[in-house]
Amino acid sequence: MSKQILAGNWKMNLDYAEAKKLVQDLLKLKDKFNKDAEVVICPSPVYIAVFAEILAKEKWIKLGAQNCYFADNGAYTGEVSPVQLKSLEVDYCIVGHSERRDFFNEDYALLAKKTKALLNHGITPIFCCGEQLQVRESNVYREFVMKQIEEALFSLSAEEISKVVIAYEPVWAIGTGKTATAEQAQEIHALIRARVTAKFGEKVGKEISIIYGGSCKPENAKELFAQNDINGGLIGGASLVAKDFCEISNSF
Ligand code: PGA
Repeated sequence: MSKQILAGNWKMNLDYAEAKKLVQDLLKLKDKFNKDAEVVICPSPVYIAVFAEILAKEKWIKLGAQNCYFADNGAYTGEVSPVQLKSLEVDYCIVGHSERRDFFNEDYALLAKKTKALLNHGITPIFCCGEQLQVRESNVYREFVMKQIEEALFSLSAEEISKVVIAYEPVWAIGTGKTATAEQAQEIHALIRARVTAKFGEKVGKEISIIYGGSCKPENAKELFAQNDINGGLIGGASLVAKDFCEISNSF
């Protein structure tokens, strides 16, 4: 069965004092969080080392990075490697968020390398896909999302891809307050699962976690998570408010 995952993508938000306060607020809500869902936070990389220490005894919140490079080390000024993340016990890393594809020109080949590098170092990639508004409106969004997945993930082995978390995030729903309806999201999630099943087999199709992102909040999480093929959420804005994030965890 697919694991239920709730990941908070803090993006480039919060100064250090605010970020530490948010972690403390989350920890205070420990008893209220859903124990059956894996809870992940992805803060700015400059906070990861300190948070790794704070969370060392609080294993129920996993740490994730928002990005990394594919090389282990070397002359790549400004980049962070999977080896460095692993040395801080980071368990997850977002790959190919639409903001990185759009603002930093990340392409399929790069995303495939990053995904593979993370898997090689035992870090779970949260691989993002999703179409822009004009792609949705021109009605080729299904093919568009399938291509994103095939190009970046289909050179992996069955064992490797079963460890990847796929996040479907329609770009038109990110940070806009405009959520995909549960039916719109389920349609793509089911397609992704079917495509992965056709390529890698039933077992992988059943086990892979496919989560939804894009203006997911306490008010709509229940309906989204009730869909057959939606195994959780990648949450931006609502993950910056401890009680909202906690409430979303109880929407499975
Ligand atoms: P949002 O962001 O929840 O603020 O729409 C989601 C994401 O970009 O991962």
